[in-house]
Amino acid sequence: MSGIYIHIPYCKSICNYCDFYKTASLSSVEKTVLNIAKEIELRKDYLDNSVVDTIYFGGGTPSILTMNNLKMLLSTINSSFTISKSPEITLEANPDDLTYEYLHEIRSVGVNRLSIGIQSFSDSDLKMMKRRHTAIEAEASVLLAKSSGFSNISIDLIYGMEFSTNEQFNQNIDKAISLDVQHISAYHLTIEEKTTFYLYQKQGKIREIDENRSNEQLLILRNKLKQNGFEHYEISNFAKPNFISQHNSNYWKQVPYLGIGPSAHSYNGESRQWNIASVMKYNKALDNNMLYYDKEVLSETDKFNDYIITSLRTALGINIGYVETNFSPYLAQYFILSIGKFLKNNDLELDEQNLKVSTKSIFLTDYICSELIYVQ
Ligand SMILES: C[S@@+](CC[C@H](N)C(=O)[O-])C[C@H]1O[C@@H](n2cnc3c(N)ncnc32)[C@H](O)[C@@H]1O
Repeated sequence: MSGIYIHIPYCKSICNYCDFYKTASLSSVEKTVLNIAKEIELRKDYLDNSVVDTIYFGGGTPSILTMNNLKMLLSTINSSFTISKSPEITLEANPDDLTYEYLHEIRSVGVNRLSIGIQSFSDSDLKMMKRRHTAIEAEASVLLAKSSGFSNISIDLIYGMEFSTNEQFNQNIDKAISLDVQHISAYHLTIEEKTTFYLYQKQGKIREIDENRSNEQLLILRNKLKQNGFEHYEISNFAKPNFISQHNSNYWKQVPYLGIGPSAHSYNGESRQWNIASVMKYNKALDNNMLYYDKEVLSETDKFNDYIITSLRTALGINIGYVETNFSPYLAQYFILSIGKFLKNNDLELDEQNLKVSTKSIFLTDYICSELIYVQ
């Protein structure tokens, strides 16, 4: 079991909140796509012949790819790896790229899950975020995807924005529910360095949202979506039954994955590596049949911390048996000692062998993680 992630580092314009690696200078797209195919071939042994169950095109904006680009990349993946009989193939798309024709084409080459970057159904939010689409276009893109035959649609929303009203926040969730999509990723806004929002914050144009309002929004989001048949299976992810993102869930289950393209990360259980976050340097290396990456061999503590951070954010939680069998008695004991105060406070709940964050403390998830990881 394994996954392949392809990073398409191009966007037609840059959103005010985004610090993912991307560029708006599109002249090198074709060259990079060819080098991505080359990288796929060069790294065909990375997954040790394991069967690939999921393929994920992320970005940036993968919907910038032409049908021929996609076809070529998928066929290179198919000839370089063993792919399962019915892999989950996701493409992240921006609403303004989605036409009926494009949707039909990408479905015909095997894309069976669409992740649409809606962010908000409010025009003033979208303008503030510097999105390229309007609220009407956002809604229309989901309807178009449905009518083109997509039956596994996810939408991305951003909440926790101080400049957005409670009414807009509620309308966003209601609209998402009414569109009857199978999956919703709702991310709390983080104001990242080197983004326009960071600059705005420094200039006093925007602020972080008040903590109480932020907590309240997460609870409203969770309750409304649960009442409407969504499972809250990870802190930022909600799915209708059988529509959990297999690709992302595998990240949280420590399943190996190969990341291709500028800035993409790979993991094989023993080490992590990440490609250079520069289209120019990436292409220069691949033009010479070389790979340009950094690598970190994971210590036992790294593996323990990764397990804690990823599992605690999921509905499944931390499996105590897993901690006891996979880590040294020292780390296992450290873990048992650190959970005590959270169990006593009912921030954590034990469900048989699984330790989960209680609903009342869901917004403390990051803090609890920071207390449970082992820092020397
Ligand atoms: C890799 S990005 C997808 C890019 C895609 N082209 C788009 O923006 O529509 C995945 C998602 O992360 C979320 N995201 C990115 N930056 C964020 C930030 N600073 N705070 C909260 N959510 C963020 C957005 O919802 C975005 O759709």
